[in-house]
Amino acid sequence: MEAFSYRDGQLFAEGVALSELAQRFGTPTYVYSRAHIEAQYHAYADALAGIPHLVCFAVKANSNLGVLNLLARLGAGFDIVSRGELERVLAAGGAAERIVFSGVGKSREDMRRALEVGVHCFNVESTDELERLQTVAAEQGKTASISLRVNPDVDAGTHPYISTGLKENKFGIAIAAAAAVYSRAAELPNLRIIGVDCHIGSQLTSLPPFLDALDRLLLLVDELAGKGIHIQHLDLGGGLGVRYREEQPPLAADYIAAVRQRIAGRDLKLVFEPGRSIVANAGVLLTRVEYLKHTEHKDFAIVDAAMNDLIRPALYQAWMDVLPVQPRDAQARRYDIVGPICETGDFLAKERELALAEGDLLAVRSAGAYGFVMSSNYNTRGRAAEVLVDGEQTFEVRRRETLQELYAGESLLPA
Ligand code: LLP
Repeated sequence: MEAFSYRDGQLFAEGVALSELAQRFGTPTYVYSRAHIEAQYHAYADALAGIPHLVCFAVKANSNLGVLNLLARLGAGFDIVSRGELERVLAAGGAAERIVFSGVGKSREDMRRALEVGVHCFNVESTDELERLQTVAAEQGKTASISLRVNPDVDAGTHPYISTGLKENKFGIAIAAAAAVYSRAAELPNLRIIGVDCHIGSQLTSLPPFLDALDRLLLLVDELAGKGIHIQHLDLGGGLGVRYREEQPPLAADYIAAVRQRIAGRDLKLVFEPGRSIVANAGVLLTRVEYLKHTEHKDFAIVDAAMNDLIRPALYQAWMDVLPVQPRDAQARRYDIVGPICETGDFLAKERELALAEGDLLAVRSAGAYGFVMSSNYNTRGRAAEVLVDGEQTFEVRRRETLQELYAGESLLPA
């Protein structure tokens, strides 16, 4: 579904004009569409209907309380990677028993809190983590349910864009070593083995790497069955790509249909950890042109959003679409869209054909995932507001940070 579309010469978020939101909340502001998030979540959940499953939204992609609350109401589970994310999910009304806890660096304190609230599963990424979890669980007199995150070493030659499922990555346990680690886990009295987990990378735009990984996981499941270790669920991680520009990523429905076909006849629950594919295209970053600067070599549009608000272009050279909120009928120029931060790397987009004037509003598309969550206070800039649109209604789900807040925790030296 298209959450952002033009009507009467203006860009709307669902039923609300973005120009109206800019007036009410100022800029820069992240704007999210409730309907889009719901539709994307349903794409997963509906395709999984009829078999045991859990769709765990990857909180790192967008951890706004309003967004998490919306997903919790839909019955989503959550994939977390820190105690902070755990507390957010609980504060947003998410159920602990639908949480999977991923990440290579879980601290003892992380483990204690997760055991205390009773998360569904720890996705364990190393043997040392396994031993630590046993110790912490024993201290608390609890049993921790676990999956091992295995690294299926999906062929990089055929799928060079995969970044986390390869031998050389820091993530997971090499699939060749996994059976031995499972045997060790089975000896540990405070651990209960329930699953096998993998996550091979993000922004994947074709199915073969996912299905290669799945095939390798299924071989492991069979090997474990031979050792008397019964696996109840397969967690295939996140990673399904979205369209930023010309990409044609598979639909969640097609991905899941292919997975279901491969696991048919097996008694396995399916877990997914989608982040980007649920929220990326549910959001835009709304920003206003402060200045137009024409030099001999370049035309710059200096806007009020910067790399501290949206770092993907600067960090990954990510291409993100930029739309004028009220397109004007004038001669277009080729602009670099840059922020006020004192770094050459502070750009949101390069070489975009736009007809602009000072004060115009722009919407940076596909900013609902890894947008606000990666923002910082660099250059002592307060972080943007976040607004969720639902039809004609608008909710400010995070107010703009004030300047006082930025140094409230700091102090002068003693006299
Ligand atoms: N599960 C695990 C264990 C992960 O590490 C990730 C993402 C996900 C699930 C969700 O993956 P997704 O469905 O969103 O692809 N900041 C980068 C993306 C980093 C992804 C890290 N892991 C970006 O802006 O492109």
